[in-house]
Amino acid sequence: LESPEHRMIQAHELLRKFYHHLLVNTKEGQEALEYLLERGFTRQTIDEFQIGYSLPSWDFTVKFLEKRGFSLKEMESSGLIIKKEDSNSYFDRFRNRIMFPLEDEKGRTVAFSGRAIQPDEQPKYLNSPETPIFHKSTVLYHFHKARTFIRQKDEVVLFEGFADVISATTADVKNSVGTMGTSLTPQHIQSLKRITDKVVICFDSDKAGMEAANRASVALIQSGFQVKIALMPDRMDPDDYIKKYGGEKFRVEVIQSSLTRMSFLSYFYRQGKNLQEEGDRLTYIEKMIGEISHIESPVEQELYVKSLSDEFNIQMDTLIGQVEKVRKSNP
Ligand code: UTP
Ligand code: MN
Ligand code: MN
Ligand code: MN
Ligand code: MN
Repeated sequence: LESPEHRMIQAHELLRKFYHHLLVNTKEGQEALEYLLERGFTRQTIDEFQIGYSLPSWDFTVKFLEKRGFSLKEMESSGLIIKKEDSNSYFDRFRNRIMFPLEDEKGRTVAFSGRAIQPDEQPKYLNSPETPIFHKSTVLYHFHKARTFIRQKDEVVLFEGFADVISATTADVKNSVGTMGTSLTPQHIQSLKRITDKVVICFDSDKAGMEAANRASVALIQSGFQVKIALMPDRMDPDDYIKKYGGEKFRVEVIQSSLTRMSFLSYFYRQGKNLQEEGDRLTYIEKMIGEISHIESPVEQELYVKSLSDEFNIQMDTLIGQVEKVRKSNP
């Protein structure tokens, strides 16, 4: 006898194959396919990541799974269909979207994320809800396939978006996984820790992405990881960058040039400031002193105090005094 969880996975596997078929072989999927090709995804990539398309219908999924022996209750608890309020009828969760299958650590499809095709449609990505087989906070996109490469390189590259992971993998950065948004959870950290202790965070270079990269770096460093943070110009995301500059430049100038957390912060706090101006200069120095005051290692502290001292021509003692003051007022 099959467990309810096994049945839910079966439903997802069947749909994954059919969504993919709709995208690549049918007239209904043509617009979605053209959108993806336009964005620079090749047919091979679309196959490899099993990208699909869900029809604009309200009951395609309901009927598709009904025909294959699934009950409405099973479909609902799988998150694939939604019950109408105050009525006994159901409708498809995913309609007219580009479908990204999400796999568990065994490579089984346990959820979907559907991207809107029209630019103004909200949400941009619609995800499966929490179900017995899908816990968003534990799943890392592409983890199952990236695992071998993460072990091989003893390093993982962490992205926030689906397209970023797909483009990076295609650009031969195969140790790539995605958080599917900007928050890195303790469960994500735990599953990574089992196979490596080196991370390159490669989030979007917009304000939200950089703030998230900083938060993720704190959590990872606390868990004993060696962390680097990658940066791209002009608020780009990794997918944008690879599409514009190519894989070679991405590997050399983004991944291999990634920064330590303090160098990243030094860049981050300079953003939008003119350090020739006294006010901006003071704000920057205060931000960096705030960060230095959290560093435990005296050697590391001195290193960064020294570089502030050199850059702004302020005596070491003055800076150390300020670090101590911040530490006391903000323990
Ligand atoms: P982004 O807003 O950076 O989107 O969100 P993106 O990945 O660059 O999307 P494209 O390139 O326009 O297609 C990063 C990630 O956050 C999650 C998705 O996993 C997305 O890839 N997200 C974003 C959602 O789950 N829902 C949303 O509405 C938006
Ligand atoms: Mn697989
Ligand atoms: Mn983003
Ligand atoms: Mn993005
Ligand atoms: Mn993007």
